[in-house]
Amino acid sequence: MTNQKKTLGEFIFENQAAFPYSTGELSKLINAIRLAAKITNHEVNKAGLVDILGDAGNTNIQGENQQKLDVYANTKFIQTLKQRGIVCGIASEEEEDFIAVNSQDGKNNNQYVVLIDPLDGSSNIDVNASVGTIFSIYRRISPVGQPVQLEDFLQPGKNQVAAGYIMYGTSTILVYSTGNGVNGFTLNPALGTFYHSHPNMQFPENGNIYSVNEGNYVHFSDGVKKYIKYCQKEEGDRPYTSRYIGSLVSDFHRNIIKGGIYMYPRIGPTQKGKLRLTYECNPMAFLTEQANGAASTGSGRILDVEPKTLHQREALFCGNKEMVKKLEAFIAEKD
Ligand code: AHG
Ligand code: MN
Ligand code: MN
Ligand code: MN
Repeated sequence: MTNQKKTLGEFIFENQAAFPYSTGELSKLINAIRLAAKITNHEVNKAGLVDILGDAGNTNIQGENQQKLDVYANTKFIQTLKQRGIVCGIASEEEEDFIAVNSQDGKNNNQYVVLIDPLDGSSNIDVNASVGTIFSIYRRISPVGQPVQLEDFLQPGKNQVAAGYIMYGTSTILVYSTGNGVNGFTLNPALGTFYHSHPNMQFPENGNIYSVNEGNYVHFSDGVKKYIKYCQKEEGDRPYTSRYIGSLVSDFHRNIIKGGIYMYPRIGPTQKGKLRLTYECNPMAFLTEQANGAASTGSGRILDVEPKTLHQREALFCGNKEMVKKLEAFIAEKD
């Protein structure tokens, strides 16, 4: 990466300067996320060398075994955001309840809440495959000056003011949107600087990748099963290629670059989604729409879903518009 490219710091500064009345709070917040990303990246990179791999010995609110890196990333992101006193609240996949944060003057004057999946794809840690962090930012709806309320975190995804992810992959990349397109910044590890490597990211016109855990096939609805058969059929530009890493961030990142659809359908006897609406589906849906794609529950727009609880799960189908439209048509078909 050469220094001819803009740094993330310069990009944030220039974007803020374009809005002379902005308070700079959102810029400071993205800066804090940038810092937490670097700290987490440092730890992820040496995962095989120090005692950071494996189970932390606890179960989180999701009923999952927490990995040491889940705990580490959660602590670092929360610490970095709290210490800077720039958000009024944080919710995390790894925390049962949301955390209220005071501004630096001890009041509750900050405007933004952040929801994070500190470490996404944690089953990939021990096998040295890529993992990520996902974040989602909303303006609070409860009055400024009072402690944040649950309602501040339970807003539909369409209210997001920003969302993004960091992928700790062959290189580390931070991808985010403030509602004005999607931009990606690759970390130069020697300098500790993110450079603007992926301007205005968009799903390519046509996609030919489908990403789904096919081990769950027996649990899928007939519509989803038919769509998978459609992807596999030899006809026109099909069969599509199947690619699945098992880390939403990495699967999404590949598909936004190469073109494709990511699917986590409802599973099990209760037909529930696995991914968390607030930490995973909504931020990815926001980025998808900003990149000219579509994100659906299978029968409606993800960003329109009204969350009822912090850790609610939802089905997610996101990627190229045409692919998502086709999938929805199969689901809507009566047998
Ligand atoms: P997390 O590691 O944050 O709990 O998320 C796991 C999610 C997501 O990253 C991934 O796409 C999906 O779970 C993989 O699920 P399966 O192993 O069931 O395919
Ligand atoms: Mn988890
Ligand atoms: Mn996750
Ligand atoms: Mn996670």
